[in-house]
Amino acid sequence: MHHFHYKDGILHAEGVGLAHLAQTVGTPFYCYSEATLRRHVRVFQEAFEGADLLTAFSVKANSNISILKVLASEGAGADVVSAGELKRARLAGIDASKIVFSGVGKTRDELALGLGEGIHQFNVESENELIALNDVAISMGTTAPIAFRVNPNVAAGGHEKISTGKAEDKFGVPWSEAHRLYAKARDLPGIDVKGVDVHIGSQIASLEPFRLAFEKVADLVRNLRSDGHEISRVDLGGGLGIPYGEGDEHLPSPADYGKMIREIADPLDVQLIFEPGRMIAGNAGILVTKVIYRKQGQEGEFLIVDAAMNDLIRPALYDAFHDIQPVEERYTDDVARPMDVVGPICETGDRLAKARPLPPFEEGALVAIMSAGAYGAVQASQYNSRPLIPETLVTGSDFRIIRKRPTFEEMIALEADAPSTT
Ligand code: LLP
Repeated sequence: MHHFHYKDGILHAEGVGLAHLAQTVGTPFYCYSEATLRRHVRVFQEAFEGADLLTAFSVKANSNISILKVLASEGAGADVVSAGELKRARLAGIDASKIVFSGVGKTRDELALGLGEGIHQFNVESENELIALNDVAISMGTTAPIAFRVNPNVAAGGHEKISTGKAEDKFGVPWSEAHRLYAKARDLPGIDVKGVDVHIGSQIASLEPFRLAFEKVADLVRNLRSDGHEISRVDLGGGLGIPYGEGDEHLPSPADYGKMIREIADPLDVQLIFEPGRMIAGNAGILVTKVIYRKQGQEGEFLIVDAAMNDLIRPALYDAFHDIQPVEERYTDDVARPMDVVGPICETGDRLAKARPLPPFEEGALVAIMSAGAYGAVQASQYNSRPLIPETLVTGSDFRIIRKRPTFEEMIALEADAPSTT
């Protein structure tokens, strides 16, 4: 559930009309609803009421510091995958004891940064990373709390590019290697084994792959314990799917997800760590864009808007479906007809929606691309020298610009005027 609704004929984010916001910040822009973010964290945490729980928001989904601050104030921690994300989480006031560090390619510098901060856990994804972490920890006179990310060979996820738990994927240590690696880690003086970690994919629309993977993890925990390992944490990653408005309302609720997991995990008596990203931020944000032109092509109609694949790459990269709503409610009475919604970028793939039934928007009309709060702004680029677009955060009837639109000069500021060599 989210807080984007029509009021007095205009789509609002909580108490703020999007037409007013568009006038103030210009289009295109991202708009997030603070009440929705808070609600999603609470709903997730309620699903694990009474458990020893760490909800480590997956910062890759939305790394804006103001967003992280909101989530931190709800008690969330952070799942980070780079030095930059770790620094953002700390800057947002997230305690190091609530930060887990994931990723297949953490450099020694990044490992040292995490150790220096005293983070909760490193999710180790290879034997060579284990060795590097041990070295770095010893050189710093400390020990690194770790979980191995195990690869359960379970297929899951809304698209092949966001499935991570199959044997052929680069993620995690092979299942068959787990026992050997836990035994090795136990003997390393810079390593303190704490738990087991798994993450099988993203936008997962059914509980079954989760159940399969988590039952395997529970068996592994029992086997490791009988080998004498002290396993006090299980990190079950993220991945719960959200409705994008494409007949996907049958998705499991966080409560169903929680119930299924607790049946498997409660008997283990461990700290439960999760890394939800999309489930928290996805439906808490939208992308507002303006119609530049309408165009009748040879075979179909185009709606050319001022947002493009550089602002929201999900449709181009994953064939993702995002619901599209008019900002002015009056359009919802019009007869819809199929249109391709495209941006100004010079690529055929710059298409936000294909053959989508939409009303006959006039030029200048504002259009909201829904469910854009996760993997939207964070995946933006300046392709075609289009400046990154602003992000705004609505709280009740107030809004703040939480990332401003750079000027042309700011956009090119890092480029040096290289002297000619001829
Ligand atoms: N933990 C790890 C280790 C991950 O790799 C991810 C996502 C998450 C947690 C959070 O997953 P979530 O709860 O958000 O599904 N850009 C793609 C999604 C990539 C997901 C990458 N990993 C998209 O726009 O669909």
